[in-house]
Amino acid sequence: EYWPTKVRANPTQLSSFAVSFDIDGVLLQGKHCLPNASESITLLQRLAVPFIFLTNGGGMSEKAHTQRLANRLSVCLDTRQFIQSHTPFLDLIPRLQEKNVLVLGGEQSNNIREVAEGYGFKNVITASDLAAANPSIFPFSEISQEHHNKLAKPLPAGPLVIDAITVWSSPRDWGLDLQLCRDLLLSDGGLLGSISKTAGDATLHNHGFQSDTPELFFCNPDHLWPTDYKGADGQPQLRFAQGAFKAALEGIWSVETNGKAPLISRTVGKPEHETFAYANNKLQAYQKVFHGAGAPDIGSIWMFDDNPASGILGANRYERGWKSVLLETGVHVAGTVPSVQPTSIQRDVKTAMGYAFQQEG
Ligand code: G3P
Repeated sequence: EYWPTKVRANPTQLSSFAVSFDIDGVLLQGKHCLPNASESITLLQRLAVPFIFLTNGGGMSEKAHTQRLANRLSVCLDTRQFIQSHTPFLDLIPRLQEKNVLVLGGEQSNNIREVAEGYGFKNVITASDLAAANPSIFPFSEISQEHHNKLAKPLPAGPLVIDAITVWSSPRDWGLDLQLCRDLLLSDGGLLGSISKTAGDATLHNHGFQSDTPELFFCNPDHLWPTDYKGADGQPQLRFAQGAFKAALEGIWSVETNGKAPLISRTVGKPEHETFAYANNKLQAYQKVFHGAGAPDIGSIWMFDDNPASGILGANRYERGWKSVLLETGVHVAGTVPSVQPTSIQRDVKTAMGYAFQQEG
């Protein structure tokens, strides 16, 4: 495996800065490389400037995602450089490892099962498991039932209690997944098929909703993201990301609760502080791994992102040393005023690199 800073043995040669790359809309558009993406990575490797990838994408293991990006960019990359939207779910392991965890999202349900099990979750239940065990749990499954039957594993015998709902990437079968979330959030302590006795009790905190139901975790707040889809005018049109699924669930929840109880959930992924703290620690740790415990901390970290509400907002809010460059190759449309002001706006990854190098002298 390759790590660029390895070539700098002398601490006086340490790079004073590092780069954090968003992927979709910065390096890739759909499956295709954006111009100068590979060259930018190769340049940082040659100059031994540390860098990581900080993406709200996911649905596969860090190793598989690193390999896929390396192939697309035709460069050599290290898994330790890679932080996906759900990488901070690793922090849930000490508490939820032995619990029944519903895992939603992923390219295929069995694929996301493997990813979650790879993190250390021992009792993973997928939407396919529930749909195959009881096809009428969602009444309009004619398009997807065969798929779920193929991917499902048998449920544990007896009544099933789900302790946590975790959304790992954009759910594929929204109807089924929304139904399951709604059912479990109204259930009696996560018992599948039950209805909570406290839900709707106006004398209770939050009107009794979600007082004894599974915890709910999301990992990607992005509402839309750039793919290779183009509209009738030939211009890219953004597609739904995981944040849109959460918005749909919030809409349903608002109806279920007569607007009296906001949906309680926890979210990681950009722009959340937890994700930036994770990325910051990871970069600083690498500095010590490759240059010894006495190596100074990295001074500035440049976040290159195309989405003002994602990497730009997160970098701006992070307390120490992060700077943000907004690129015009994805979500942000050139010439419009971004919702969050970055340190700089640049045309693409090449001009962003030039700007950062110039600022760092
Ligand atoms: O929100 C969808 C996700 O794939 C975006 O990825 O790399 O732009 O954070 P990224």
